[in-house]
Amino acid sequence: MTDQSVSQPTSFAFSQENLEKAKAIIAKYPEGRQASAVMPLLDLAQRQNDGWVSQPAMDVIAEMLDMPVIRVYEVATFYTMYNLHPIGKHHVQVCTNLPCWLRGSDEVMKTCKKVLGIGAGETTEDGKFTVNEMECLGACVNAPMMQIDDDYYEDLDADSTESILSVLKAGGTPKPGSQIGRKSCEPVGGLTSLTELETVKGKE
Ligand code: FES
Repeated sequence: MTDQSVSQPTSFAFSQENLEKAKAIIAKYPEGRQASAVMPLLDLAQRQNDGWVSQPAMDVIAEMLDMPVIRVYEVATFYTMYNLHPIGKHHVQVCTNLPCWLRGSDEVMKTCKKVLGIGAGETTEDGKFTVNEMECLGACVNAPMMQIDDDYYEDLDADSTESILSVLKAGGTPKPGSQIGRKSCEPVGGLTSLTELETVKGKE
């Protein structure tokens, strides 16, 4: 179930604005299938609650969706996208799964330690950063990568990781996406197929 070592708040309520959003999400699903809204509602609660989902929030969601609380706990504890304890303002999630590891995720983790002074599962004393190691985040083709908050940073090495974290530390907004200028997930050397598509587009 939930992490018993965490001090839980006594209650949770969606803000008026988020309550309206929650109602709109629930209305997307057919009558009798409202439980399908559990994931977006957990995400909404997490965003409202400084990046983590408390047990009272899960209980409120279970009641809203008329589902047993255990089913909400099951979803929240299964997916790593839900944090069940307080985290830092910026959540640095470094993929250390095989493709990212082969492409240098150890360097990314080492650089997090160097710049932020923390390792996996730790939060900086000022509460600004939490670092975690993650399994595949679905961007292996641009490995190694890390997710910070809602953005992906790809094709990393020690230098680009340091630069991204330093910008964030200084209160700035680093540029997400490939850090070597790769477009989307095209081959590093540019397109090798469907190259005529570019030509056709250019003629339009
Ligand atoms: S292994 Fe890192 S994104 Fe897939």
